[in-house]
Amino acid sequence: MIYLDSAATSLHKPPQVAQAAADAIVQLGNAGRGAHEATLSAGRVVYEVREKLSELFGVGDPMRVCMMFNATDALNTAIAGLIRPGDHVVTTEAEHNSVLRPLYRAQRQGAQLTIVPMDKRTGRVREADILAAIRPDTRAVVCAHASNVTGNVIDIETIGTYCRAHGVLFVVDAAQSAGTFAIDMQRMGISALCVPGHKGLFGPQGTGALCVAHGVHIAPLRVGGSGVHSFSHEHPTDYPTALEAGTLNTPGIAALSAGLDFILKTGITAIHAREIALARILYDGVHELDGVRVYGDWTTDRRAAIVTWSLTGWDSGEVSDILMQEYGICTRAGAHCAPLVHRAFGTGKGGLVRFSLSYFNTEEEVHAALDAVTELAQEDTTCGRKSHD
Ligand code: ALA
Repeated sequence: MIYLDSAATSLHKPPQVAQAAADAIVQLGNAGRGAHEATLSAGRVVYEVREKLSELFGVGDPMRVCMMFNATDALNTAIAGLIRPGDHVVTTEAEHNSVLRPLYRAQRQGAQLTIVPMDKRTGRVREADILAAIRPDTRAVVCAHASNVTGNVIDIETIGTYCRAHGVLFVVDAAQSAGTFAIDMQRMGISALCVPGHKGLFGPQGTGALCVAHGVHIAPLRVGGSGVHSFSHEHPTDYPTALEAGTLNTPGIAALSAGLDFILKTGITAIHAREIALARILYDGVHELDGVRVYGDWTTDRRAAIVTWSLTGWDSGEVSDILMQEYGICTRAGAHCAPLVHRAFGTGKGGLVRFSLSYFNTEEEVHAALDAVTELAQEDTTCGRKSHD
């Protein structure tokens, strides 16, 4: 099997990741609940992960790193905890439903939303258009660093610097960039950074983090058991407990720790360079094939290692099925939970096929994928799939 769906979840992880989860299940207690050795060990593991995430993302304080269950969880927490009725929020057409749906809910509750359009051809969102949408009553800009459909990246430092200077909160969805792009919350003016553990950070599913800048207060989405102040009716307000309630996913967090060790040792630059080199091989090979159209801005390597394409006359789901069944290649087809992107591209009906690369993919795998697309593109689609069968 050739796994080219790392934008959904990374499958090939450093081997230490699975081992760390297995060890944690039999060794670690409940972090922050008591003072015996098993709970203290769990607490140490969780704190180490906060430290590593703080280092990786320039948070400046491990105690401002709150453990979440995925990026959607972090985005829900940030958006629900920051946006009030009457607030104005700026977002973009390039967003995933993990941004859009919490914002639509905020809109139903009285917030006002401006959705900045993307370029219908490249899928790019211009930073200047985002900044131009900011009004005196704008509470926050919420947007993805990298699109999960096109792989296009926006310059978050430009946006964050402007937001900081104008007293606007900046919430970043780093679902497709955490682990492959340098992110420094303090330098870039990011108020809340939402990261999944299970994609570029090589942790397991059920892990993620919400990193909160100093001075930013997010009202908690979940309240409950915290291990401290048990007689209070209120959930503690000190970070990170302020945004964490109930038992953490400690085995997942221990495994994420091993993933982070790999990233910190290998280096973001080397990881991105390898991924984008593999993506370039695919892009170069497929984009000139008859009937194939590749989406996104490929004029730059400052992009995520995502190659999303359509084949004239074919439904993306059918292509993805054939790639799996006949070539053993895992892709993601359809709308990728990004309805506005597909509406803008006019691909809402047939969807698109997405290859998404990881540091652990090989050139052989990429060439096999390229050969598969080449064969499909050469098929006579006038008679549909039957001509092939
Ligand atoms: N958001 C993930 C993706 O794009 C699941 O596939």
